[in-house]
Amino acid sequence: MQKITKISKNNLETDKNVLGKNWNKTYNSYFSDTTNINLFIKACLPHIKKLNKKKIEILYVAGGNGLLGEKLILSLKKHNIKSELTLLDISQKQLDENKNPKTKKVLADILTCDLCTKFDLIIMRSSLDYIYKEKLQVKALKNIKKHLTESGLFINCCAAMPTNKDRDLADKIYASNKLIGKRHFQSKESISELYSKAGFKELKLIGKSNNMKLTEKEHIERYDFTKIEIEKIQKIILKSKVQPKNIKITKTGYLLDFIFPIYLAKK
Ligand SMILES: C[S@@+](CC[C@H](N)C(=O)[O-])C[C@H]1O[C@@H](n2cnc3c(N)ncnc32)[C@H](O)[C@@H]1O
Repeated sequence: MQKITKISKNNLETDKNVLGKNWNKTYNSYFSDTTNINLFIKACLPHIKKLNKKKIEILYVAGGNGLLGEKLILSLKKHNIKSELTLLDISQKQLDENKNPKTKKVLADILTCDLCTKFDLIIMRSSLDYIYKEKLQVKALKNIKKHLTESGLFINCCAAMPTNKDRDLADKIYASNKLIGKRHFQSKESISELYSKAGFKELKLIGKSNNMKLTEKEHIERYDFTKIEIEKIQKIILKSKVQPKNIKITKTGYLLDFIFPIYLAKK
């Protein structure tokens, strides 16, 4: 195991209820949902085909149990493209849930890892926000870029809000208590600036996965929220000076409606 950062230690602690066996069921099975997986694959396929390679090396960063990557390599096989998958995560419990003996598993932190090799394709889903400071997100993106071949592709399906104002409010909500852990979500308005800070030259929106609608119910299940956390979040939304589009108070708590755009970036 290479050096693990303070941020990642915190992520492991706050996700302790869901890492490993429980991951596929988390958030109403959003991450194992076939429609969501197929939307990602559909967005990737034309771009992978354009690489015009018979065999591609794929790195799935912060890939959890790797299900998305496994489904992608099966789909590539059907299109006569061979591939090898490397799965990287900071959670050994997540990696242990991947039962494909051909998939390489690397217990490492995306902020500090150096795999001493390059990949034709790097994929990521719903994980950049775990690195909750913009400066560190840039660092993670730079490290991802370092692991890409010259013609390599980075495809990221990220948890996002449509505007910076909604995003800032979502960040504020996540920082409001220690059970959930801080996040820095993406925003459609700021993603291109973020990627260009990391030195990516091309950024293209190539698709979208379904929205993830989170209410207090999902947070109670995942983080053991009590009335205290729910009411605190309601107050934050109520006091907000912006009129959020995707964040609302409801009778029982609140609704956070995350969008999941899929971006392709090149060196
Ligand atoms: C929301 S889950 C997404 C898992 C997977 N990408 C999926 O779509 O099912 C976030 C994952 O990122 C991992 N993670 C968090 N911080 C990380 C870091 N700094 N480096 C590597 N993995 C990290 C967590 O252990 C977790 O498995």
